[in-house]
Amino acid sequence: MATTLDVNGKPTAVEAAPDTPLLWVLRDELQLTGTKYGCGIAQCGACTVLADGQPIRACVTPLSAVGAAKITTIEGLGGDHPLQAAWVKHDVPQCGYCQSGQIMSAVALLNANPRPTDADIDGAMDGNICRCGTYQRIKAAIKDAVGAPATAPAQPARA
Ligand code: FES
Ligand code: FES
Repeated sequence: MATTLDVNGKPTAVEAAPDTPLLWVLRDELQLTGTKYGCGIAQCGACTVLADGQPIRACVTPLSAVGAAKITTIEGLGGDHPLQAAWVKHDVPQCGYCQSGQIMSAVALLNANPRPTDADIDGAMDGNICRCGTYQRIKAAIKDAVGAPATAPAQPARA
């Protein structure tokens, strides 16, 4: 069934059943593979994208629920978002698998709250799991991106 989505600022025709999770439309049909599959049950955050600026779990969002919402994926940030620069500066990723979802949740946080407190950051990022344990560097990068002192201690560099 033909549907038109707004993905990364462009009207995009997709052919998928209405109950197809947005994650598979993005990855398999549109080849936007930066968005990852982790748990499939809205528990890990690896599949986080933005819908009208709000973070959603693409693994449990059926195509039929997207409607006219403007979907933004990690590819839509273009590589030069201040958070992406901060991620590089703080050498955040280890395996990297969770990081697209982490960044998208952080983007949503800063869009809604440009000067988040530590508690705000903890609350916004709480649903994004990182098996590699990069949480301290994620927090430091977010604080750096908003110009706040990075109080989280740096983790040892990767081997
Ligand atoms: S894959 Fe969607 S929340 Fe884990
Ligand atoms: S960097 Fe490996 S799961 Fe987060």
